[in-house]
Amino acid sequence: MQRNVYILGIETSCDETAAAVVRDAHDVISSVVASQVEFHQKFGGVVPEIASRKHLEMLNPILDDVMARAGLKYEQLDAVAVTIGPGLVGALLMGLGAAKVVSYVKGLPLIGVNHLEGHIYANFVEHPDLKPPLIALIVSGGHTMIVYMKGHGEYELMGQTLDDAVGEAYDKVAAFLGLGYPGGPVIDREAREGNPNAIQFPRAMMRTGDFNFSLSGLKTAVLNYVSHLNLQARELPLHDIAAGFQAAVVDVLVSKTLLAAKEKNVGVVVLAGGVAANSYLRKRMIEETNKEGLMLYYPHITLCTDNAIMIAAAGYYRYLAGDRMSLKANPIPNLRLGQKVEV
Ligand code: KG4
Ligand code: ZN
Repeated sequence: MQRNVYILGIETSCDETAAAVVRDAHDVISSVVASQVEFHQKFGGVVPEIASRKHLEMLNPILDDVMARAGLKYEQLDAVAVTIGPGLVGALLMGLGAAKVVSYVKGLPLIGVNHLEGHIYANFVEHPDLKPPLIALIVSGGHTMIVYMKGHGEYELMGQTLDDAVGEAYDKVAAFLGLGYPGGPVIDREAREGNPNAIQFPRAMMRTGDFNFSLSGLKTAVLNYVSHLNLQARELPLHDIAAGFQAAVVDVLVSKTLLAAKEKNVGVVVLAGGVAANSYLRKRMIEETNKEGLMLYYPHITLCTDNAIMIAAAGYYRYLAGDRMSLKANPIPNLRLGQKVEV
């Protein structure tokens, strides 16, 4: 029988400092996520300089904590997996620096993981039965894409947003409605009390037959609607606005994801990224994949937003494939999914 593989994952691509120890991609031994959201909140979004500084402050205590909780010594690990991109360069640099130190001092192999790949692998953690080929809908604060995953580490980008990412649209609309940052969870909650059909917002690129998205028109439509009511000093139907916005977003996401599964003749769909936590997206995806006879997977809610478990899980498959990175590796802020890292 094969020996167990213990991977330490480190994630610092944006505003979460996270570390986790995971066995064989499926057993979470320990996990710590320190969110910096309160430091960025007053600016209405992530401030890169603050993010880097906070990562630097948090990394050592978090690594000590995650190893203590795991009850393991570094020497008992098999490898260190770290996010090398995409993300904020200064933020990525902090996590990569910490991973290099652990790798060098403890003699552990260093494995570079693509953040988006990590989001996809969040699905594998609790579902050992899950196997590619599959269609992944990645919806986060920075990305919106439909990916055909042929095998482990093999990706084909089928389409993506031409302007705003879905999470970004949620955050901007929420900010405009005065609901705070991050906007996704608040709009999700507000929308539960609203009628998704009360206000019809545009569904851009719904029938273009490709797999690209455009969110900026929808965002502007919501802003115009709100300004119009404000000018007339009328009360804002917050619940219906949130529900109508969300319905417009989700209609397009669902329809294009199902079309992608049909095009590739694939029976498995996974949701990935922070917006995969959205209750309405999940509900509609469950209904529609059921109708089409497709298998649907989505990560546990705590695994949708940034964490290091997903990085350790993706790192496990790279470890098995023999992927190693040298200590000279640099972060790649615009790293593409499937892009080979030459180190
Ligand atoms: O994946 P993530 O943690 O960070 C990036 O890699 O971008 O995603 C963060 C995004 C934010 O835009 C946040 O508003 C959104 O995910 N989000 C949600 C929900 N929870 C988080 N959007 C909609 N509904 C939610 N429940
Ligand atoms: Zn993310």
